[in-house]
Amino acid sequence: MLLQLAYLASAALFIVGLKRMQSPVTARRGNALASGGMLVAVLATLFLHDLLSPWMVVLGLLLGGGIGAVLARQVEMTAMPELVAVFNGFGGLASALVALAEVAQYAGDSAILSGSEQAAGIGAGTAVTIALSVLIGMVTCSGSFVAYGKLSGRLGGNPVQFMGMRTATIGVLGGALVFAAVFIFSAGATDWLMISSIALLALAALALGILLVVPIGGADMPVVVALLNSYSGLAAAATGFVIDNIALIVSGTLVGAAGFILTVIMCEAMNRSLQNVLLGGFGGEEAGATGAAAEAPEDRTVNETSPDDTAILTSYAEQVIIVPGYGLAVAQAQHQVRELADLLEERGVTVKYAIHPVAGRMPGHMNVLLAEANVPYDQLFEMEEINAEFAQTDVALVVGANDVVNPAARTDEGSPIYGMPILDVDEAETVVVMKRSLSPGYSGVPNELFYQSNTRMLFGDAKDSVDAIVSEVKALS
Ligand code: TAP
Repeated sequence: MLLQLAYLASAALFIVGLKRMQSPVTARRGNALASGGMLVAVLATLFLHDLLSPWMVVLGLLLGGGIGAVLARQVEMTAMPELVAVFNGFGGLASALVALAEVAQYAGDSAILSGSEQAAGIGAGTAVTIALSVLIGMVTCSGSFVAYGKLSGRLGGNPVQFMGMRTATIGVLGGALVFAAVFIFSAGATDWLMISSIALLALAALALGILLVVPIGGADMPVVVALLNSYSGLAAAATGFVIDNIALIVSGTLVGAAGFILTVIMCEAMNRSLQNVLLGGFGGEEAGATGAAAEAPEDRTVNETSPDDTAILTSYAEQVIIVPGYGLAVAQAQHQVRELADLLEERGVTVKYAIHPVAGRMPGHMNVLLAEANVPYDQLFEMEEINAEFAQTDVALVVGANDVVNPAARTDEGSPIYGMPILDVDEAETVVVMKRSLSPGYSGVPNELFYQSNTRMLFGDAKDSVDAIVSEVKALS
């Protein structure tokens, strides 16, 4: 009874925590609540099931919590998807190992039991959930470690494809399903068949995870990590059914659903189908640099501007909207951008930030960077909230963004990014684009915005450019 109450409390904490993660203002508290829920579930399981001695529990908590705290403190914000990939990998592995332990325990018991007692072993329902847990858990494990390797640069980021790869993947998937079926039919009957089939299922699932993730380009890895996160939740939920643990079922289902929703949101914001991400072999390391020239075509010219002109333009504006993108993260210009915004506000200019859902390379990338520079949350606006304001805005300051402001997404039906929702910066009176060249962004699609009559290009590293504008604005006052 006490155990069920503890699980209920932890489930409530997970749900409230998740709800609070909807907004950057409450997200930290939400995270703390959800972690608290997990602590309650872990402690209740260990103490109320009488699984370990109290000192071992404390030792485990200190060790695990210590490693987690050090990792979380040390990791760079931009390396967060890598850390999440590793967590997913271990989560999938843990789920599969618990399910395998259940098989091992039964096999051990059956060696000392006989006849009718054995028949009461693994039932068909449990066998199905064990097979699911091992299949999904092991796919998540190997897939996540490949994703980690690609994100961290330890493995090449380019899609890896070889002749017959798809056939090999389908073959391994087919083999895994056959081993799962053999396991389900032999569970509770023939020990050697049950053990060998589940072991082969685990190996096939590990191979499947690798085959599924290596053909995907490094830049698409954040979407893959969100999907693997969802898988790790499903594996945990399946294991919850195996060992009859409600907290695991609830938390696994929440992670599974949240991961899948995030995957869908990311795909929609990139105007890509999940199938296209998983099968496309798109988004290698060089994806952005190869598609078009870094110089303007001979018959086209762009209007260049300078930091002092931009300082004057923004200082005498009524409203400036800052549009951060991946280049802001590369240049690490968030502190300079915040300083510029503060200076402009002191001069009576209204400053807002427009956040595109897939600006940068990971979910919430821009929010995290701007939070690091203590940009007030009330200055941040989602795309849907702010798009209508560009038409009444004097200056749109695009800092290292490209695809998320490319009007081809609205106008060019033949463009690969056609249909992707974008920030309508081109409707502002003047657009200043800060980047180093005319190179396209991640999608490799040239940007018509650079050639518009109301656009001014400020070439250079974003941090240097914003720094120079800050100095000029200071000189004006
Ligand atoms: P991008 O379209 O990738 O463009 C970034 C631009 O930043 C580049 O064109 C680059 O131009 C410029 N840049 C790079 N380093 C710079 C520096 N030091 N200083 C100034 N500029 C610099 O970025 P975006 O507009 O943020 O769009 C994100 C893209 O990534 C979308 O296509 C999205 O679908 C994709 N994506 C997003 C995610 C998530 S979850 N956010 C995940 C995977 C893929 P120069 O080289 O000329 O400087």
